[in-house]
Amino acid sequence: MGLEGKTVVFGVTGSIAVYKAADLASQLTQAGAKVEVIMTEAATEFITPLTFRNITGRPVVTKMFELNSEFSVEHVALAEAADVVVIAPATANTIARLAAGIADDMLCCTVLATKAPIVIAPAMHAAMYENQITQDNLAKLQARGFTIVGPAYGRLASGGTGLGRLVDVGEILGTICQVLGRSGDLVGKKIVVTAGGTQEPVDPVRCLTNRSSGKMGYALAEAARDRGAQVVLVSAPSALPKPVCVDVVNVGTAQEMYEAVKKAVDKADALIMAAAVADYRTKKVAESKIKRQQVASLTLELERTPDILGEVKGKFLRIGFAAESENMVANAKEKLQRKQLDLIVANDITAKGSGIGADTNQVVIIDRKGKVEELPLLPKRQVADRILDRVVELLDKASKRFEIILKPSYINSHFIHIPVAERGLFPEFKRSLTLLTDIGEIETTAGLCKSGTHRALELRKGLGKWYEAHPELKSGDGVIFEVVEPLKKYRLRKA
Ligand code: CTP
Repeated sequence: MGLEGKTVVFGVTGSIAVYKAADLASQLTQAGAKVEVIMTEAATEFITPLTFRNITGRPVVTKMFELNSEFSVEHVALAEAADVVVIAPATANTIARLAAGIADDMLCCTVLATKAPIVIAPAMHAAMYENQITQDNLAKLQARGFTIVGPAYGRLASGGTGLGRLVDVGEILGTICQVLGRSGDLVGKKIVVTAGGTQEPVDPVRCLTNRSSGKMGYALAEAARDRGAQVVLVSAPSALPKPVCVDVVNVGTAQEMYEAVKKAVDKADALIMAAAVADYRTKKVAESKIKRQQVASLTLELERTPDILGEVKGKFLRIGFAAESENMVANAKEKLQRKQLDLIVANDITAKGSGIGADTNQVVIIDRKGKVEELPLLPKRQVADRILDRVVELLDKASKRFEIILKPSYINSHFIHIPVAERGLFPEFKRSLTLLTDIGEIETTAGLCKSGTHRALELRKGLGKWYEAHPELKSGDGVIFEVVEPLKKYRLRKA
């Protein structure tokens, strides 16, 4: 998943925060997205289209009827091309026009015509933001499925402080990735990731720790988010920025991490322990600072910390890491066996580019059957995706799923008929159930349909919007149902 190859239609409106929009356009472009900028007339008063043109390498649309624009004839062309539409900064005026369905410029037309998800990052004076009219408009957009990110609290252009600043570019970027991830292969899954090096106190100022940066765990958390998972990141201290749209639980010691992981794994599908957990802690923590003048030589008595991966109970997949300096594969296989893991990711910390704190990693992934997959030296984010590919494979094997071939009657009347053989996987007639889809959750009901002499089960309620979001679906195409929570939650996606 991620931004590579995605078309991001990027709306820029007239706010002093447009200078940050240039940075966002640059980061989106660097991440591999095709960025199509649409500026409102007011935005062009603050910054010229040339800036965005140079950053994105794409023409910038400013007028509805521009004769030299490749998009002017077909004013919905961008709406159709978009994988996601982002408006940052979004002024109170643009938000109001969108909420009212007004289509008097290219940006509003595009938003009105698109089926892609829409992310709005408001920026305005605090009083305008707090005004009930703006609040109602935002609530209306949110109810229609728009994702609103921000605004942030801080210094405003007017000189005062308040809620109205455009949120950090990183937060908008993370939100876009999460929104794009709604059609990812981890939708409906809960993944718990640990990261960083735990700190075991010696006295109020000193601690025993290790050199882990947290980069591998953070990359895993973001990659899982971008593939649609609900992610809990249990993080030991790390200097990295908090990932956006990830539930972060900060911990200090191995014991705190143990307690946090025990809570987080409730209903989890996988636990990935990328943290470097201290194996020992001091048996007694000094209450006040140990004074150099008073203690000539110091011996610390250490005791073992809990083995989190080995002790946390549950039905989820367990993925461990083994940072080794010798006999890498043999040691990793022994750990996989001892901790009863599904996968272990081993790396030689003495290898070039693979050490603790590096941005790259060269790992081998070993499974329960002893199969060893050797990966080349890769950026940690790519390593994360390769690990998650294996997690998806294992989850797929464990889940109940089946395919339904669409008939013209289903598509035209917006329903899906459940084959008799799969009836047992669904609740009784009239019971409600949730479908996790690429356009969000759909609440539906297991309904009764009299087909000839037999009573068949079909899902109808709420499915119209899913079919409408997929006009490409035709008779003979397959859709996959996967049971996420028996009799309650299912994942629905195109085959
Ligand atoms: N781990 C854990 N709890 C601990 C120590 C480690 O859950 N107290 C996890 C790590 O996060 C990692 C895996 O277990 O995913 C292996 O960690 P490692 O330190 O390599 O293994 P140890 O069990 O500590 O074995 P050794 O010290 O002999 O290498």
